[in-house]
Amino acid sequence: MNNKYSTNKIYIQQLILVLILAMGCSSSTDANEDTDELGFVGLKTLADHPVGVAIQARHLDSSQRTDLITGVFDRISAEYEMKPVPIWTGPDSYNWAASDALVDFAGSNGMTVHGHTLAWHQTTPSWLAGFSGDDTAFEAVVEDYISTVMQRYAGRVVSWDVVNEAFADASGQLRNSIYRQRMGDDYIAKLFEMARTADPNALLFYNDYGTIWDANKRNAMFAMIDDLQARGVPIDGVGLQMHITYDFPTMDAIIATMDAIAERGLLVHISELDVRINALGDLTAFTRERGELQAERIRDVVAAYNQLPAEQQFGITMWGLADSDSWLINFWGNPEWPLLFNDRFNPKLAYEGFVEALEAAQ
Ligand code: XIL
Repeated sequence: MNNKYSTNKIYIQQLILVLILAMGCSSSTDANEDTDELGFVGLKTLADHPVGVAIQARHLDSSQRTDLITGVFDRISAEYEMKPVPIWTGPDSYNWAASDALVDFAGSNGMTVHGHTLAWHQTTPSWLAGFSGDDTAFEAVVEDYISTVMQRYAGRVVSWDVVNEAFADASGQLRNSIYRQRMGDDYIAKLFEMARTADPNALLFYNDYGTIWDANKRNAMFAMIDDLQARGVPIDGVGLQMHITYDFPTMDAIIATMDAIAERGLLVHISELDVRINALGDLTAFTRERGELQAERIRDVVAAYNQLPAEQQFGITMWGLADSDSWLINFWGNPEWPLLFNDRFNPKLAYEGFVEALEAAQ
């Protein structure tokens, strides 16, 4: 390669960077035809791994949203509508309206779908919690649910969180969910086996929060994973929900947990990323200063993720599109601005942080 070529290359790279950094403005860039209408470069065009967003079927009514979703991201998770409560209305009855709408939308826009989630103690249909059959019958209805959902979407939902949040905070004990009560301590292995049988091509994940900063929970999760792997129970990856704040936890802790997953040969999914900037409730309005800290945080997390071996990068999923959509506002009760877009659907500094990290990895 001659010097002139490399100088030109550096110049072009710098030019692209300047265009990207200007993306908060309305100017459009020709860097990628797909995203030309957006006026800025979509994350999917810059990333070597999928970039996802959690959405709800009602969001599909707004073309302002759908243009943004399809222009920026190439994967979706259902924020709510692919959990058992909304789908599994009775032992033999299902409501597919919202989940079908999401899966169809993804398919017609060339996006993949990550299924979330097959079993979670927070979304147990009340009829299942009060199931009157014996434990064998309970296991059979659960198996039937897993095969019904996974086979309906086989080839379209390419990965699933099989079990969500199995371990309790601080103690790291298995939560005493209905699945554990009815199927025993080995219920996680049973659910993964059922999922593999239902759709052998789907990638199967264990998903949780707190496994970065809660030592007992982390140890319990890795002990469970090591046990599954030792017994040949199928598991392909781990989701780190990554509901974090701008200053907690440390990057070292985040990196150590991601590395521990990768060392086991598993895929790493940052599955529900959002970054709180008002955890202490000291803000009544978004501030530029906190926005910059949030941008740094996003950049650092994405940069750390990009250090993982390429074959173990399953992708990064944002848990919502625009700030006021975020579940965190109701969950914690503080004003909050945890996502990449503001409520006018303009990219925030946090978006620039994401872009910077992707650019640096190229
Ligand atoms: C939340 C959704 O954002 C809310 O809309 C819903 O009401 C409750 O669930 N961990 C998870 C997600 O795995 O499913 C949760 O999503 C957020 C915490």
